[in-house]
Amino acid sequence: MGKSLTRKILEDHLLRGNLQPDEENAIRIDHALLQDATGTMVALQFEQIGLPRIKPELAVVYVDHNMLQLDYRNPEDHRFLQTWAAKRGLHFSRPGNGICHQVNTERFARPGKTLLGADSHTPTAGAVGCLAIGAGGLEVAVALAGHPFELSTPRIVKVRLEGRLSPWVEGKDVILEMLRRIGVKGGLGNIYEFGGPGAAALPVTARATICNMIAELGATSGIFPSDENTRHFLRQQQREEQWVELKADADAEYDEEIVIELDKIVPLIAQPHNPDNVVPVEEIAGTRVAQVCVGSCVNSWYPDLALVAEILSRGEGVHPEITMTVSPGSRQILDTITRTGVLEKLTSAGARILEPACGPCVGMGQAPPEGIASVRTFNRNFRGRSGTLADQVFLCSPPTAAAIALRGEITDPRQLGDYPKIEDAAPVINDRMILPPLPQAEAERAEIIYGRNILPPPAQSPLPESLEGKVLIRLGDNISTGSMTPDGALVMADRSNVPALAQYCFAKEDPDFISRAQSEQGGFIVGGENYGQGSSREHAALAPKQLGVTAVFAKGFARIHRRNLIAQGLLPLPIPEEVYRLANIGASWKLPAVREELAAGESHITLRINGKKFRLSHGLNKREREMLLAGGALAWIREREERRAQS
Ligand code: F3S
Repeated sequence: MGKSLTRKILEDHLLRGNLQPDEENAIRIDHALLQDATGTMVALQFEQIGLPRIKPELAVVYVDHNMLQLDYRNPEDHRFLQTWAAKRGLHFSRPGNGICHQVNTERFARPGKTLLGADSHTPTAGAVGCLAIGAGGLEVAVALAGHPFELSTPRIVKVRLEGRLSPWVEGKDVILEMLRRIGVKGGLGNIYEFGGPGAAALPVTARATICNMIAELGATSGIFPSDENTRHFLRQQQREEQWVELKADADAEYDEEIVIELDKIVPLIAQPHNPDNVVPVEEIAGTRVAQVCVGSCVNSWYPDLALVAEILSRGEGVHPEITMTVSPGSRQILDTITRTGVLEKLTSAGARILEPACGPCVGMGQAPPEGIASVRTFNRNFRGRSGTLADQVFLCSPPTAAAIALRGEITDPRQLGDYPKIEDAAPVINDRMILPPLPQAEAERAEIIYGRNILPPPAQSPLPESLEGKVLIRLGDNISTGSMTPDGALVMADRSNVPALAQYCFAKEDPDFISRAQSEQGGFIVGGENYGQGSSREHAALAPKQLGVTAVFAKGFARIHRRNLIAQGLLPLPIPEEVYRLANIGASWKLPAVREELAAGESHITLRINGKKFRLSHGLNKREREMLLAGGALAWIREREERRAQS
């Protein structure tokens, strides 16, 4: 039986394990990606490991999230990251150079490599045949220190794309169709490998949109073969020599196969407040809209912006009741739209041009009005992420967004008639804003400059014999990490200061949560299904930890957040509906023998509520149990190093 492309890359990087079902494996990481909002904690934790230089062959820090310098905090974070990268051996992509996934795909991603990124949309690089996985900051710090990435054997799902996309239907509609079918937690544990004649016809830019939003399925990654389209993309990026052909064997075996007939897909749109709340655009046509935003790390490629410009040029430009913003994904794209005249078409149609950065996607300005639609080409529409708590954010493709900007209401773009023809444009290549690390000898003398808002993360200490506390909050399904540590310029300025950041924890869900946690000196969180979906930010584990939370009980956990909880020494414990119903705020829960049970390798942990005993199946593997016993990933690594030094 032949092998899938995913299996080939995994086998090529396997350091431990055999990729058997449910097995824990360890893989070598070639490349790493950090961005400023998660990167300062990565850097601080790497410093705690105490190595002079990073080990992977390439790592890049991008400054793209915290771009509004409201006071000294963000610029000092950026200066810290720049001086740290120079000294420790990472490249530094300066603010204004573009969004991490965009620039990484343009300038660094290579077929057949493994990439670990401190950002959930790292799988974007799967567009060029790279196996790219999002992770928490501490896991990336550990990979930078040369440790392998531990990975349970993924389920490899073949997505066979048949036929061709119809005019006005885009890569975005393909991933929205997958979200409609599979849902925001349906991809847990899966790597989606694309193939078939429809995949071969998609350009790398459309593939990047699909792989980026694989994260919205809760999946581990997504990947396309490296073929002639990949070669064309790399040639345009002046790095064709990095191209290799990579594909699955004709008789490859998969855990599951799904078929998507591209010609049957129509323009789709995700309604508030989850990316899987997808309907055909025509079903909600006529809905009033106040704002249209094009950009983010999906759909800010040159063809996306050129298409929007062509459509806007058709009528009277942006409708008078709409505010429209356009963010190029990178400075390369900004330069290219400037050279080709696309920029002028956008501005003369009435669009506001923002700098190449995350911007409105992460609530960095451009918050929409309350209670009226804001239509965005982005990847997430969780309530309040835009900066407006009572927002109504919809997600769609660039041509749908342009049609809406033109008409002032939700509009099926097929109503606009002929589909515009977009000429391919060679990108303007210029790496002036990517600073290489200092040579080793110079780096040894260089100084890392710390800002005064940069504090080390909470210490990790061994798990006690038992855990006891009150239920501090009970949440519903699909709570995103943006609830534990919200987005937006004000809160994100404190991403390097966990005590300050913790003051916003669950503020949207329950304004009394923080005072309750403080007066109880910690306790437990109880969540529903898919707890911790969305962004990879480990701050979502650090903030509750800072408030004294020691365990999170939920009906189900999102992959990266569960790993972040363990890495920071917080127990993630799955609970059945019966236990969830008992989670009244203020109820006393106890894990009377948690340390002994984990140390003995038992598969269950005892929970006592009001004298009643429950046995919770924890699903923790050996490494995770050891990590929790030590108090987290850093403490576990230290313990192992000490043991090695003594033996
Ligand atoms: Fe940035 Fe939004 Fe992507 S925050 S990395 S543009 S998901």
